[in-house]
Amino acid sequence: MSYLKEVDPEIFDAILRETERESDKLELIASENFVSEAVLEAAGGVMTNKYAEGYPGKRYYGGCEFVDIAEDLARERAKQLFGCEHANVQPHSGSQANMAVYFAVLKPGDKVMGMDLSHGGHLTHGHPINFSGFLFEFHGYQVDKDTEVIDYDNLIAMAKEIQPKMIVAGASAYPRTLDFVKFREAADACGAYLMVDIAHIAGLIAVGLHPSPIPYADFVTTTTHKTLRGPRGGMIMCKEQYAADLDRMVMPGIQGGPLMHIIAAKAVAFKEALKPEFKEYQKRILENARAMAEELKNRGYHIVSGGTDTHLFLVSFLDKDYSGKKVEKALDKAGITANKNTVPFDTRKPFVTSGLRIGTPALTTRGMGVEEMKIIAGFIDKVIQNMKDDDVLEQVRKDVKALCDKFPLYSERMKQP
Ligand SMILES: Cc1ncc(COP(=O)(O)O)c(C=O)c1O
Repeated sequence: MSYLKEVDPEIFDAILRETERESDKLELIASENFVSEAVLEAAGGVMTNKYAEGYPGKRYYGGCEFVDIAEDLARERAKQLFGCEHANVQPHSGSQANMAVYFAVLKPGDKVMGMDLSHGGHLTHGHPINFSGFLFEFHGYQVDKDTEVIDYDNLIAMAKEIQPKMIVAGASAYPRTLDFVKFREAADACGAYLMVDIAHIAGLIAVGLHPSPIPYADFVTTTTHKTLRGPRGGMIMCKEQYAADLDRMVMPGIQGGPLMHIIAAKAVAFKEALKPEFKEYQKRILENARAMAEELKNRGYHIVSGGTDTHLFLVSFLDKDYSGKKVEKALDKAGITANKNTVPFDTRKPFVTSGLRIGTPALTTRGMGVEEMKIIAGFIDKVIQNMKDDDVLEQVRKDVKALCDKFPLYSERMKQP
């Protein structure tokens, strides 16, 4: 029996339809994933009721003995997973994790270097319309025009010239391995803190398929819901020397009561990520991203930087007469969900863009492999070649549904919340 159906049929219906959308369409958004039923259960549990300002053993409220268990487990598992000295699992989101680090060690007006949004960086890495850009003097670094990858000599030279107080590494749309040794070199060249935002690549790092920033960075921030496949949320890791200041900045600095149901769900996701199967899953994400990028390349598309080392890649339409926005819309009609994205040196506006960002974590969670990636690349190509032909888009939509049906997402029970 569903309480929700009885109490709030409109929300019940919206959730049911979202469940069907997730199940019947191909999810290619690089920052999304499908959590396990165990994670969903924890996230939907009674810990949502509990106020627990403070940290385990030192709370401002009584009755925290069971949520303390959840938070202690989340912290311990995070430390085990990433090999860090200290973990704070309370940030409500990746953006708040970044805010807490900035506020812990920077003052308004301080100089910071972060990757330009149009070259792959995130809004919280200094974009003028974000708090980071309002409060700090960010200087954006870019990729090289020819190779479309970060030029580390340039980065180090820029750090020497600008003398920032912090360098932010990490990105939302950068397909290549990040060289944390070089980032440390750049930070050391000007005595800056190094913060690495691994929101996208956390799952790969946890299993050793991308180098870890932990030995090099003063602070590492992440979201828990992308490759890491946990509930929506954030986390910060740091050296013990910064732990007390950082914890104080998360709470009471910028947050009140932690979301204990989400922290419990983070603990569950970290337990899943510590299992050997998680490494196999991450390996398949990489194989799938490479296979789809390669297939699109063979079909004549320009893949930014020539390919990918990660779970995502960017298709560039800089030299085409259609935009990322048009492609996103046509794909959506055909049951394929991806997002338009700026590409380096984009000439179109951020709401139009000349690129498409594609990621494989969600499809891989469904069990799809290299064969399916090649088929999906074929669907994408067909959609792009026939963007104005609704009959073709409808045919692809049917093919997409047939493919999705072979890889069921959640059990029947889940489809009846
Ligand atoms: C690199 C990076 N950092 C931070 C964030 C922010 O995370 P949230 O959306 O949870 O605030 C994102 C989200 O996409 C991201 O890609």
